[in-house]
Amino acid sequence: MRVGVAREIKPQEYRVALTPAGARELVQRGHDVVVETGAGGGSQFSDAAYEATGARIGSVDEVWETSHLLLKVKEPIASEYPRLRPGLVLFTYLHIAADEPLTRALVESGITAVAYETVETDDRRLPLLAPMSEVAGRLAAQAGAHYLEKPKGGRGLLLGGVAGVSHGKVVVIGGGIVGYNAAVIALGLGAQVTILERSVDRMRHLEEILHGRVSLVMSSSLQIEESVRDADVVIGAVLIPGALAPKLLTREMVKGMKDGSVFCDVAIDQGGCAETSHATTHDDPVYDVDGVVHYCVANMPGAVPITSTKALTNVTLPYVEAIADHGVLAAVANDRVLARGVNVIDGRITYEAVAEAHGLEYTPLEDALASTV
Ligand SMILES: NC(=O)c1ccc[n+]([C@@H]2O[C@H](COP(=O)([O-])OP(=O)(O)OC[C@H]3O[C@@H](n4cnc5c(N)ncnc54)[C@H](O)[C@@H]3O)[C@@H](O)[C@H]2O)c1
Repeated sequence: MRVGVAREIKPQEYRVALTPAGARELVQRGHDVVVETGAGGGSQFSDAAYEATGARIGSVDEVWETSHLLLKVKEPIASEYPRLRPGLVLFTYLHIAADEPLTRALVESGITAVAYETVETDDRRLPLLAPMSEVAGRLAAQAGAHYLEKPKGGRGLLLGGVAGVSHGKVVVIGGGIVGYNAAVIALGLGAQVTILERSVDRMRHLEEILHGRVSLVMSSSLQIEESVRDADVVIGAVLIPGALAPKLLTREMVKGMKDGSVFCDVAIDQGGCAETSHATTHDDPVYDVDGVVHYCVANMPGAVPITSTKALTNVTLPYVEAIADHGVLAAVANDRVLARGVNVIDGRITYEAVAEAHGLEYTPLEDALASTV
């Protein structure tokens, strides 16, 4: 199969959908890999590095027009819509339930589109989203430490303290993938860490894997209010699947926080978990509300494209290999997890939430597959 790798043209996107290591795996399996000129540049992978694996470097037209399977990181933007075509299989982050123009462009083009974010295991994990949560969680603790510095607008406190001076306090709200990773780095920096969670099972697991080095507290409005009042850094890391983040931090609670403390709302991509949160960008990442530094960057992994690219491609590669080896129809017929990623097949919407969101026709995947084979 010819596997194309497109260069990302969305502003501020430096990731690429395949590393040279991944290209070599595909070449060794007998596939023809074509990487768009400069596609790896933002992640420090040169064209020569891809060529050394046996992949070819091609123009944007060649990659889009001749690939059977096209790998991307972000959804196509409007200038790319004319390049969508029947017979092409697109594998990328799509988030089309929130994007009607793109949904219509996919349907009208007759393309098959598999979304990273809806590839889902039987126990409801999202394996192609998880690495970005790991990156964001780890970055959140770093951002907290950074913005606590006086010249950055913070209290002027070192999270780890020094001998004879006490540690800073980090409160993490939500102990999922982001929360766990934030806690690991905050602990590494020497902070005193508290995680507020509402799942007792999850807290038992965290207790075990963090060897009792964090305080685990049942999340409630009162507990949040008391914990954030005493915190130097608060990290918002909650998720209610399929819903906007709950506003757990009221404006009053933010007002009660220490002057110069830092609130890092990682859940901002789901609307944020504080009444005072609004999305920011890497160009202008922080703002102040009642003396509390708010860091609310909606695409945190974009700050570290080398790490994010490698983490993403580590988890996508097995699915890329399955699609390239067997074709998309056989690959999804063999794997329920990958099948949940199919949003559009030959121009028909096979993901119910997407069809519902836009009032468009829904075709169950089995029906679409039966009529496609
Ligand atoms: N800003 C970014 O760049 C970025 C990057 C990756 C992920 N995220 C976001 O980070 C958030 C967390 O993602 P995740 O992968 O860790 O999700 P997750 O499902 O692994 O964890 C969420 C946790 O929140 C807990 N929770 C739910 N309601 C709670 C409450 N009221 N109090 C305390 N805990 C509560 C859940 O029990 C769960 O353990 C999501 O909104 C995700 O979209 C943002």
